[in-house]
Amino acid sequence: MTDQAQKNVGRPGAPDSADQAYSDFTRSLSYGDYLQLELLRSAHQPVTEAHDEHLFIAIHHVSEVWLDLIVRELQAAMLLLEGGITDGPLKMLSRVVRAEEQMTNAWDVLKTMTPTDYLEFRSAFGQASGFQSERYRMMEFMLGNRNAVMLRPHAHREELYGPLKEAMEAPSIYDLTLRLLSQAGFGLPAEVLERDYSQPYRSHPAVKAAWMEVYRNTDRYWELYELAEKLLDVEDQFRRWRFNHLTTVERVIGFKRGSGGTSGAGYLKKALDVVLFPELWEVRTEL
Ligand code: HEM
Repeated sequence: MTDQAQKNVGRPGAPDSADQAYSDFTRSLSYGDYLQLELLRSAHQPVTEAHDEHLFIAIHHVSEVWLDLIVRELQAAMLLLEGGITDGPLKMLSRVVRAEEQMTNAWDVLKTMTPTDYLEFRSAFGQASGFQSERYRMMEFMLGNRNAVMLRPHAHREELYGPLKEAMEAPSIYDLTLRLLSQAGFGLPAEVLERDYSQPYRSHPAVKAAWMEVYRNTDRYWELYELAEKLLDVEDQFRRWRFNHLTTVERVIGFKRGSGGTSGAGYLKKALDVVLFPELWEVRTEL
């Protein structure tokens, strides 16, 4: 036993031999084995000696892990929503918002990296960019931001391209919500319910009128109202992520072109104008 461990014996809350923590993992799964931590750490492969490259890789990795969770939650929520509004999908959407919040907070850590720190390793990753993130595109497609151009960077990987294209052509979470809105007695027109899902959704007066009714009669349409507000939470938090990404990008690379080939900050600024659930924002003006 170390000197420190000796001193800790008998102190409340301090590790000592009486804690009986399991220590033999020859026949059972340990923490690291269950979580495949060696595999996880093996993905951390800086290609330069630059200290900040560790931070850069770590933030991208954690963001990708959150994106994967968000996609899983959205998939499960959408499956359940096909059967109607229950607590399950609402809870999953709350979790999506919390996960988005974690991604948004990650910018505060990344912002500790200065432009000079970044330039020490920038040349190492060539044309790689978050623009090519498959999980991010999957999330966007499920939320309804559809654009076939975004499929192109995945064309060389059929196992990524196939499911992405499928998601782009299937109803988004908002399309499913509009079906439920229609079924609640609002009878939405075919051009809303049977539209070409591969195209971005455009605001429709009949949908806006239906949401107006829901927001004016929240007691009567409580479930739809709750779902609408959850979707708005998801979009609200997503906007914060986008905005903080842009600010971080301006801090680190200014107005240089992006590694992915776009105009950089200019491209990201335009993305701030994307509206996922237009009528949910519009009704507020007229209430
Ligand atoms: C210093 C750090 C970063 C810089 C300088 C940066 C820069 C950029 C730029 C300039 C773009 C536009 C596309 C391009 O031409 O490359 C972009 C897109 C993107 N980045 Fe970052 N980024 C950074 C960190 C991150 C992190 C940590 C994530 C987390 C996953 C991320 C995710 C994305 C995504 C998903 C896009 C596509 C956005 C869209 O198409 O709307 N970026 N980034």
